[in-house]
Amino acid sequence: MKKGFIFDLDGVIVDTAKYHFLAWKKLANGLGIDFTSEQNEQLKGVSRVRSLEKILSWGNKTLSPEEFSELMAKKNDDYLSYIAQMDDSEILPDVPKILHYLIDNEQGIALGSASKNARAILEKVHLIEKFQAIVDGTNVSKAKPDPEVFLNAATELEIQPKDCVVFEDSVAGVQAANAANMISIGIGSKEVLHEADYVFNDFTEISIEFIEDIIKK
Ligand code: G6P
Ligand code: MG
Repeated sequence: MKKGFIFDLDGVIVDTAKYHFLAWKKLANGLGIDFTSEQNEQLKGVSRVRSLEKILSWGNKTLSPEEFSELMAKKNDDYLSYIAQMDDSEILPDVPKILHYLIDNEQGIALGSASKNARAILEKVHLIEKFQAIVDGTNVSKAKPDPEVFLNAATELEIQPKDCVVFEDSVAGVQAANAANMISIGIGSKEVLHEADYVFNDFTEISIEFIEDIIKK
């Protein structure tokens, strides 16, 4: 049976949180706001605009709309300069193994990400051709935990939401998958992602037998 496997990007396929951290820290510190890695954790799965709003509220700062857009653009320029060097070595362990198994078994494969840089990153790590559908921050209007991103991916794959499976590292993403009536697989800690149907620390813990069972379900 054909299932649709929808992958989040940041924190699932590649670890870009470290680059977001550097760029947000530079911006926050420039405004005299402290920025810790714990705060960076809270920005996982959160859109660029909402991330800046949160940083400003943590630092009790307000900006004019012009300053806000200027800083958003600056943050993205910095982020792009960090990701410019990315290559296949940044693909998280065993992601290619699972992708190849799904391709060999003629399953649907889509990306469901909040990032507006998703296509550029997939190109850098040479995975773009593995995806039959790409839904990202450039073509979604409602942020996770709204299910829009995953429902659009299912539509593009022409597979019913109940036959789709989502890999997600953020709480909002797991909630979005559940709201879309899809099987949710959390990638990260069980405590944080307890709302997911299954949780694994990373793809090295996901066996081919597990994927086979999911396909048969
Ligand atoms: C993902 C990341 C977030 C990031 C968001 C938007 O969800 O986990 O940290 O803010 O994408 O990414 P972008 O590349 O468009 O700034
Ligand atoms: Mg993510």
